[in-house]
Amino acid sequence: MITFALPKGRLANKAYELLKQIGYDCIAVEADSRKLIIEDEKNDIRYIMVKPSDVSIYVEHKAADIGIVGKDILMETGSNVYELLDLKIGKCKIAVAGKKNYIEDMSVPLKVATKYVKITKDYFTRINRAIEIIKLNGSIELAPLLGLSDVIVDIVETGTTLRENNLTILSEISNSSARFIANKSSYQFMRQKIDKITHELEMII
Ligand code: PRP
Repeated sequence: MITFALPKGRLANKAYELLKQIGYDCIAVEADSRKLIIEDEKNDIRYIMVKPSDVSIYVEHKAADIGIVGKDILMETGSNVYELLDLKIGKCKIAVAGKKNYIEDMSVPLKVATKYVKITKDYFTRINRAIEIIKLNGSIELAPLLGLSDVIVDIVETGTTLRENNLTILSEISNSSARFIANKSSYQFMRQKIDKITHELEMII
């Protein structure tokens, strides 16, 4: 049986729709239950339902053989896994955002609130700008509104959260979308099975 890590949350339905399209439909995955391990004996797949930010950790450590995860998470964790396919779902931007009238003071470090610490450090190192990072875990957009930070680094999907909070994109760091990933040693041992799923997914995206 192959173990497949699926992200819970906003990517969950889109990821499952893809699996359904290639014939891996599984009623138990569809049911809104709290079960974290679901076995699909018909297709010889065991699904584990994990937080999106943990998918690549499970796959890197071989607790799961394959998984679906956002490129943003792969960039942030730097996980050592095979990235087999861009699934073209969950498309978003990773961006620096701030108040519309924000004027940057270049003489002091920029205060950046984010949950993407590595992406933020890498980006500002690349553009040679001193920063102070304030690590948050959610509702990042609040930080510049309350003066906790000057700007944020976060994902922007529809742009609604920024718009509704009077914030705007100041610069774009990268694009992101969901990727089909595999553990490196699982890929050697289950190559036929993983290649089959990869090709089936490739045909529908
Ligand atoms: C994410 C992200 C933004 C929002 C962007 O938050 O952190 O806040 O989605 O999406 P939008 O451009 O479509 O509005 P999420 O909903 O995952 O919750 P969080 O605030 O707990 O991180």
